[in-house]
Amino acid sequence: MKINIAIDGPSAAGKSTIAKILAKELGYAHLDTGAMYRCVGYYALQQKINIDDEEALVHMMEYMQISFDADGNVYINDQDVSKEIRQNEISMVASKVSAFPKVRKHLVKLQQEMAKNKGYIMDGRDIGTIVLPDAELKIYMVASVNARAKRRYKEYLEKHIEADYDVIFKDIEQRDYQDMNRKTSPLCKAKDAIELDTSDMTIEEVVSAIHKLMKVKL
Ligand code: DC
Repeated sequence: MKINIAIDGPSAAGKSTIAKILAKELGYAHLDTGAMYRCVGYYALQQKINIDDEEALVHMMEYMQISFDADGNVYINDQDVSKEIRQNEISMVASKVSAFPKVRKHLVKLQQEMAKNKGYIMDGRDIGTIVLPDAELKIYMVASVNARAKRRYKEYLEKHIEADYDVIFKDIEQRDYQDMNRKTSPLCKAKDAIELDTSDMTIEEVVSAIHKLMKVKL
């Protein structure tokens, strides 16, 4: 029997990495909802839309198709934007546009349509609370700002992207603040979510912990 798994938590806590591995192991579909907010931010910049104008963003979204392929690549109207949406600048823009209720409403509807059937692992900020309140397993994944900044820094170096640790640290702190303090669907732990602090855990340990939690749930 397949279930739905919601993984929420602050930025750079490792949600997508873990969700991707679990989905592969379980034969589940993975939906990285943060990528969708990133697409909205990226496309707005590309189309020279004012990112502070909610109505203009909503209008833009009517002409914008976001899709994923089986390898997790992300497309806007058939253009592969997988790399572009990961830029640091886009992280902040995504966080900004994600505060608008109408932008959220549009994307939440798409996410709920995608996960009509069971067998989804979705990661984001509001999955356990808003998008999939009936998910059978809800994980709230956290890690210290220091641990998250270190991981992001290492990731950038590995990808040969220029990186400054202090800038990454401050960006994570600022994005935490924005995502946790917005009025609409702020990042928070669902009542029935299980908190997992991954600060001192390896990827393998986190994956194994979630497998164990699944066994308990099933
Ligand atoms: O997970 P991420 O860092 O790629 O997400 C980018 C931004 O999108 C994040 O700062 C907050 C927003 N977001 C959101 O509000 N709700 C989600 N379900 C996923 C992401």
